[in-house]
Amino acid sequence: VAKKRSDYQTPDFLISHVDMVFHLDVENTRVITTSQITRNGQHDRPLVLDGESIKLISLTLNEDPIHDYTVNDEQLSIQTSANTFTLCVETEINPRENKTLEGLYFSAGAYCTQCEAEGFRKITYFLDRPDVLAKYDVTIFADKARYPHLLSNGNQIGKGQLDDGRHWVKWQDPFNKPSYLFALVAGDFDLLSDHFITQSGRNVVLELYVDKGALDKGHHAIASLKKAMAWDEKVFGLEYDLDIYMVVAVDFFNMGAMENKGLNVFNSKFVLADAQSATDDDFFNIEAVIGHEYFHNWTGNRVTCRDWFQLSLKEGLTVFRDQQFSADMSSPVFNRIKNVQIIREHQFAEDASAMAHPIRPEEVIEMNNFYTVTVYDKGAEVIRMMHTLLGADGFRKGIDLYFERFDGQAVTCDDFVQAMQDATHVDLSHFRLWYSQSGTPKVTVTDTFEQSSGRYTLTITQSTPPTADQAQKGALHIPFKFELLDQQGAIIYDDSVPELKAKMVELTQAKHEISVSGLSEKPTPSLLLNFSAPVKVEYPYSHQQLSHIILHSSDEFSRWDASQSLYSRCIHSLATTPDSPDEELFDSMLVAVSGMFDLADSNPALAAAMLSVPSFETLSQQVDEIHVEALYHAQRSIRNLMATSLSEKWLALYNKQIIGSYQYNADDVDKRRLRNLSLSYLVQGDAPQASKLLSAQFASADNMTDSLGVLKAAQYGPVAQFDNLMVQFEERWRRDPLVLDKWFALHANMERSDILARLPLLLSHEKFSLDNPNRVRSVLGSFAFYNVLGFHAIDGSGYRFLADYILKLNSVNPQVAARIITPLTQWQKFDDTRQELMRYQLARIADCKTLSKDLIEKVSKSLNYK
Ligand code: ARG
Ligand code: ZN
Repeated sequence: VAKKRSDYQTPDFLISHVDMVFHLDVENTRVITTSQITRNGQHDRPLVLDGESIKLISLTLNEDPIHDYTVNDEQLSIQTSANTFTLCVETEINPRENKTLEGLYFSAGAYCTQCEAEGFRKITYFLDRPDVLAKYDVTIFADKARYPHLLSNGNQIGKGQLDDGRHWVKWQDPFNKPSYLFALVAGDFDLLSDHFITQSGRNVVLELYVDKGALDKGHHAIASLKKAMAWDEKVFGLEYDLDIYMVVAVDFFNMGAMENKGLNVFNSKFVLADAQSATDDDFFNIEAVIGHEYFHNWTGNRVTCRDWFQLSLKEGLTVFRDQQFSADMSSPVFNRIKNVQIIREHQFAEDASAMAHPIRPEEVIEMNNFYTVTVYDKGAEVIRMMHTLLGADGFRKGIDLYFERFDGQAVTCDDFVQAMQDATHVDLSHFRLWYSQSGTPKVTVTDTFEQSSGRYTLTITQSTPPTADQAQKGALHIPFKFELLDQQGAIIYDDSVPELKAKMVELTQAKHEISVSGLSEKPTPSLLLNFSAPVKVEYPYSHQQLSHIILHSSDEFSRWDASQSLYSRCIHSLATTPDSPDEELFDSMLVAVSGMFDLADSNPALAAAMLSVPSFETLSQQVDEIHVEALYHAQRSIRNLMATSLSEKWLALYNKQIIGSYQYNADDVDKRRLRNLSLSYLVQGDAPQASKLLSAQFASADNMTDSLGVLKAAQYGPVAQFDNLMVQFEERWRRDPLVLDKWFALHANMERSDILARLPLLLSHEKFSLDNPNRVRSVLGSFAFYNVLGFHAIDGSGYRFLADYILKLNSVNPQVAARIITPLTQWQKFDDTRQELMRYQLARIADCKTLSKDLIEKVSKSLNYK
């Protein structure tokens, strides 16, 4: 059954203090939870606690056994007249059997927990909701030899040894927290220690726990953590609040990482890195995720969510903060492009699907299904728009007031916006519609120029098409940044036009008009500078205008964006009329591309991004109907045209990137990116040197970015050479699962006719396991999300293959199953044949008698959509 946002009620009881004792055992862990509970207000309703997949051993109230209770699969209900009391619950759990990786689980020889969103109820019966905040004391007992490190939130306040080889450690967290921030870890790790002095002079101990032998791979994560701590002090004045900050890396993890108070648990993929085994992207992601979880300490932990419908309160805001952090640490334009690509490739797709929802959802069956690109990434765009509307100083004032008002509380998205508004006196009442309205707004721009008067008029209209969840849409408050360029490429200033002066118009109605007079020629509008709102823009650009923006816009993002529009135009044109290619269009594209090479020295990050063509996923969101083969091959052909027509330039660009021994720094990252991009064009264009370059770079590479760059480029070349390189790579890296994941993904993405015969080989690889989410994502996720021709094979074999594994995963790890089913649920834009094949597999999944809530929600929504 679905829960509705509007059904929120304050908790019937509150918990002020929790004392937990864990006796860890792989199959029979005992948990004794003693809570101080108070009735909240005057009522005689029973105390209803959440609990799932746990065994109740005993129950006392003020130390007396309780007889008056009922228990079912989801809840324990206790009838009591007491208003203030001590409740003691003893439960038994089986961590080894817990393959859902939610609650307390045992994997790879260690215990760990994941409680967000509703995993704490798999540990004990509790008021498992984020608006019940309590202080926790936690004592852990376990075998000392096998589990020398026993960790929980807060500060260690005691430890001891028993005669039977067990030991214990007691932790105390001085801060109130909701149950989803609880964490426990027990295992045998290597420990990397460091420290950070806060701006007020306090010493914070930093501890990073990694698998035995992986210590050398922890340095980048620790360095990133220190950068994040310093950045949050500098930019937001926010200082860390405990004396110790621990991060544990584990191999089995459903998501990226988790911000548990004082004890973050991370997917090892976002912690471990060295030059040999990690790519530049890995280094980047580690810094970003370490930052993200650290920033949650204020935006999420100190101020948390009242209920799960408010998830974007902490996630949208924290993603925005981590994006700003990453931009400050590296290239702002490259970061902005990355953020926007996620929106255009995945968030727009979600809006167009049966799972469409506002950043603050209205209705949820399984909360885990709402950790989405909409809540996270569109949520971050909504925060960014406020930043744009209020300015950096206003935004900071708002954040300060937010913490002043709400520190230590569980609040709502409305509370956040109200604080921003009150601190700045900027009226955000209309802006709030972004929280309740789903869908991708479309901003349509047209213009006229009157030669005689020199009057230029822009007409801007907005509309949001209906979505699966919501038919009626209103006009949004959109900060729409733009500029006008004259024919020399200079920006047209006219102080009498306020929108021109501000380089922004705040759209609030369906239609706006902006006029400038006294121009001698028709200008070129450069629209949605820096992607100032998560919308689609339509304006009938000529390709000359796009080239003009590529050269002259003052906004680097828009220069890139124009390059992508130019490629898109070429690709769509070729896809629709493959037999009569628009040579003039292609020629002007090639001229523009040719010019981009000149940027390689002065702005290599921008050059690399501009020289890359839009992904199939981005292109798919630009059309109403996806013609799979036509679109795919058109994209290939345009790349091919760029490769062959400019082969000398690619070779020169490749040879120009001289890089010393591996270092992760912005300059070298840019050079490697340009070098590997050039390599892939050289291979695709079948340049005479290509094969030699591949082998030479493969042999000499001292880092994973360049090794992987070879494999990615080799995908465009002869299969024999690719296969040969892949074999060598596997031999070298077989023992490193994180590296092997890259190999798995490359295989699963390969364009080859026998892909369906090869996938089972990957799945039977000795290192593959359906229990491990990273492996599943590498093979099945990569295939479903990115192997366009394989997944969408017209005989339905790709869909059937995915469905088979979804059904297997359903009983192992429903959360992961519900993630990788996404491409199958997004059938709406495909041709009739494919739609039918996709729906057939969805119906097959729906037939399963033991389907998890996670899959029921996504499959039924998708099948019921028009
Ligand atoms: N709060 C975590 C983060 O954004 C993610 C937790 C995901 N949990 C889940 N059940 N899907 O860093
Ligand atoms: Zn987060």
